[in-house]
Amino acid sequence: MITFKPAALFGVLAGILLSLGSFTVIADHDSEASIGTRISAVGRSCVEGQSCKAPVAVVVAAPAGPLTGKEIYASGCAACHDSGAAGAPKLGDVAAWTPRLDKGLEKLFSNAFYGYKGMPAKGMCKKCDKDEISSAVTYLVDNSK
Ligand code: HEC
Repeated sequence: MITFKPAALFGVLAGILLSLGSFTVIADHDSEASIGTRISAVGRSCVEGQSCKAPVAVVVAAPAGPLTGKEIYASGCAACHDSGAAGAPKLGDVAAWTPRLDKGLEKLFSNAFYGYKGMPAKGMCKKCDKDEISSAVTYLVDNSK
């Protein structure tokens, strides 16, 4: 004979409810809102066309304005003008720079921009414009007289 035990039935029901409950937790773990919360500590994903309420947490610092002559010099020209590679007149070498300065600054600017003998055009700084090359030349000659 089968005996009906309410306690056993309760146990089974509780078991079913518990497993449903944990299933819900797993489902929530992968829900968009849940994922969004977990990754939001680093940054916030925004969908184009929708409002993005919180500002993006990670802000890449943009350089403040154009590079200075010193920075351009250090990032490229120094490779030759610090060492004197290929016969480049060295930074600070007054004897090497004095006769070149006699040509006039404008001539030095244009020779640095368009190239001159062993001196490659723009000192190989492809993205540099005329003003940037000129400011690098100014830095170079100001520290060589
Ligand atoms: C690959 C090596 C190299 C790099 C990089 C380089 N130079 Fe030169 N530069 C030379 C050489 C070599 C000379 C000497 C050319 C000569 O008179 O024979 C020279 C000469 C010059 C002169 C003198 C030109 C003249 O008319 O007498 C200036 C000014 C100059 N460089 C500026 C720069 C600046 C500014 C940069 C960076 C933007 C730069 N150089 C990068 C090799 C280089």
